[in-house]
Amino acid sequence: MEFSVKSGTPEKQRSACVVVGVFEPRKLSPAGQRIDQVSEGALANILRRGDMEGRPGQTLLLHNLPHMACERVLLVGCGKEREFNEERYDTAVRKAVTLLNDTGSTEMASFLPELDLKGRDVAWKVRRAVQVTGAALYRFDELKSETRTARRPLKKMILAVPRRSDLAAGESAIAQGKALVAGIDLARDLGNLPGNICTPTYLANQARELQEAHPAIRTRVLEEADMAALGMDALLSVSRGSRQPAKLIVLEYRGGREDEGPLALVGKGLTFDAGGISLKPAANMDEMKYDMCGAASVLGTIKAAAELALPLNVVGVIPSSENLPDGDANKPGDVVTSMSGQTIEILNTDAEGRLILCDALTYTERFKPAAVIDIATLTGACVVALGAHATGLLANNDALARELMNAGKQAHDRAWQLPLWEDYQKQLDSNFADMANVGGREAGTITAACFLSRFAKKFKWAHLDIAGTAWLKGKEKGATGRPVGLLVQFLIDRSKKVASGK
Ligand code: BES
Ligand code: MN
Ligand code: ZN
Repeated sequence: MEFSVKSGTPEKQRSACVVVGVFEPRKLSPAGQRIDQVSEGALANILRRGDMEGRPGQTLLLHNLPHMACERVLLVGCGKEREFNEERYDTAVRKAVTLLNDTGSTEMASFLPELDLKGRDVAWKVRRAVQVTGAALYRFDELKSETRTARRPLKKMILAVPRRSDLAAGESAIAQGKALVAGIDLARDLGNLPGNICTPTYLANQARELQEAHPAIRTRVLEEADMAALGMDALLSVSRGSRQPAKLIVLEYRGGREDEGPLALVGKGLTFDAGGISLKPAANMDEMKYDMCGAASVLGTIKAAAELALPLNVVGVIPSSENLPDGDANKPGDVVTSMSGQTIEILNTDAEGRLILCDALTYTERFKPAAVIDIATLTGACVVALGAHATGLLANNDALARELMNAGKQAHDRAWQLPLWEDYQKQLDSNFADMANVGGREAGTITAACFLSRFAKKFKWAHLDIAGTAWLKGKEKGATGRPVGLLVQFLIDRSKKVASGK
């Protein structure tokens, strides 16, 4: 898909289809009014007849309007003007893209970026349009023997901006949008791949491919023997029940100054989580192929950072393993020693994410990171608390938490903070080791973060629990690519801070 920005009037667009918004009830956007004037009231006529109310997501495709250079005009409903918001904007873009992709317009000129959206500038709307388009056209059919492709797919999108002075910002918004889509698509593809294909070895090879594609990325993969030498017995204990060797994947993206501490992203990479001896129930267990979505978001974010050549340093650390029942698997009651030296009583083998993450966090100390963010499908409790809308956020540093919350708002990939108070820590007390790996039924997302916090004492750290947001269930089942949007925004904001010397 090709994107460009243009400033110009709708009647002159030679594109196959011009797209304009209509607010409820029957109110044309500025570009719509212009088309109406030029075409001698054709649009007002149609609206008057009641074919297009302007309800959110409503569409009406018109052909051969008088005095228009384009073949088609697509009216897209945007709801009441006063209620117009990010969701409505997304819906309008998504509807236009899917309709035109199915009906054979290979090109469109969208005037949706002209619509007023409180607190969002033209660049935001252009970038968002690119991102929503990418998401709308995303397919995962590489495992189907026959694929259904549109006969004349949409190939080119022109985004109309109101002023010539918006063009430069529009261009860079397109570049950002495209890098985001590349990162999000990678995360979605890896998430959607099944456990028999996307193994720890497969993830390691994907990380190596990122190194091949981008000179600023260096990838290293630690094998089980390397991890054993480092004392990562918590991580290795999870992998013992699996025939797939565990990997610790390390990616370094260097775009910043040599002496600048990197931002570290640590992603949970459980390529399948059956629960181990504390076996999960059968229903929906297939969804545990998504238990590596944290890892996938790290790969996607680093890919986007490299494509944008962001002026900062990022390291990705991905502990990857399967969690399966086996004669050699972890047993409830087992005690293991983590790389940090702290001992852990494994009361539930299904709380394996924290066991591989804790050693990855300790390993991350060696990079002297400016901040560490781990991303993990860590707890079912987070799905209960926040559903599929917000990622859970916990941190040992409030400024970092705020930055992530704001990045999530800006990217419309939101997170919500939960408390990491000392009060919860005692739920992890164990009679036989320094801590237990579970903290009981209450506050499961918080006690999981409490566990991780004990391995994050040496740096500023935040934890993103993406158990509810990384994939959708039901009819729309599939990986979402979240929170790549949030993370890329966070990196962009950090780059600006570096540039302004703050
Ligand atoms: N990967 C799961 C968390 C999960 C469950 C994510 C369902 C999304 C949907 C994690 O490894 C896990 O099993 N967590 C346990 C922890 C419990 C044993 C303390 C859970 O949430 O049930
Ligand atoms: Mn588990
Ligand atoms: Zn898990």
